[in-house]
Amino acid sequence: MDRYAVIGNPVAHSKSPLIHQAFARETGQSMTYERLLAPLDAFVATARRFAAEGGKGLNVTVPFKLEAYAMATLRSSRAEEARACNTLVWRDDQWYADNTDGMGLMRDLTHNLKQSLTGCDVLVLGAGGAAHGIVGPLLAKSPRNLVVVNRTERRAKDLAASFAQQGPIQAFSSAQLDGRQFHLVINATSIGINADVPESLWPQRPFAPGSLAYDLVYADTPTPFLCWASRHAAERTADGLGMLIEQAAESFALWRGVRPQTSPLFAMLRPGA
Ligand code: ATR
Repeated sequence: MDRYAVIGNPVAHSKSPLIHQAFARETGQSMTYERLLAPLDAFVATARRFAAEGGKGLNVTVPFKLEAYAMATLRSSRAEEARACNTLVWRDDQWYADNTDGMGLMRDLTHNLKQSLTGCDVLVLGAGGAAHGIVGPLLAKSPRNLVVVNRTERRAKDLAASFAQQGPIQAFSSAQLDGRQFHLVINATSIGINADVPESLWPQRPFAPGSLAYDLVYADTPTPFLCWASRHAAERTADGLGMLIEQAAESFALWRGVRPQTSPLFAMLRPGA
């Protein structure tokens, strides 16, 4: 039976096995999908052993997305644009790297959440690896403007400069955000689910009427960013569960050549929502 896994550290919390096992059942694919904990200093060796034992593909999670990208000998244009890899395919005795995160986000925003992007003002908070993975796909949808704000301003400027050819992107300081409103505000920082929101860095009233606050992170209770967004009058909020499900579907399609349904997964992972 073909073997797949999600590789990370930590990885015990990952919902990817549940998702891919459900996809396999639904599409009738004969495969297994497991969790693979790699020591922090042995990502490449762990991935190599998995392939030697018959592994066909890996999802890559924190903190190995850059190492996976560097390890691969073949890369998709999506992975190259993001400079990171969340999906590896073992093909002809080498690793092929792809990145389905951006596509997963776009599908969740446009298809599931019916959020229009064309002509909209978009704010991305953060300028690290996660932000790099989503800026290209966002610009491809022709927003009116995409503003990036980051604790370390230099990184926001570098990010905006490296995507300037692809659309209207600007790096702002926190002060420059005063009085600006956005239709979509995305948290791409790593403040995650435990940290406090950096109130002093983020704008006071950034949400235009009808706007959506979107957190790339997901959790069983509202994330700190989404609580902050609700306090600041965001009309709609969504966490990254939809992105997780949609990026998984895209990885599955890449590996197996068949696209699974994603809507049953929402009911399974967030019953009653
Ligand atoms: P990832 O791959 O998860 O994006 P990363 O590349 O380390 O991880 O980037 C983390 C992002 O979260 C950065 O934009 C970081 O800001 P800096 O560039 O200034 O480090 C941001 N970040 C992390 N902790 C933060 C905090 N407490 N307040 C504001 N921004 C934070």
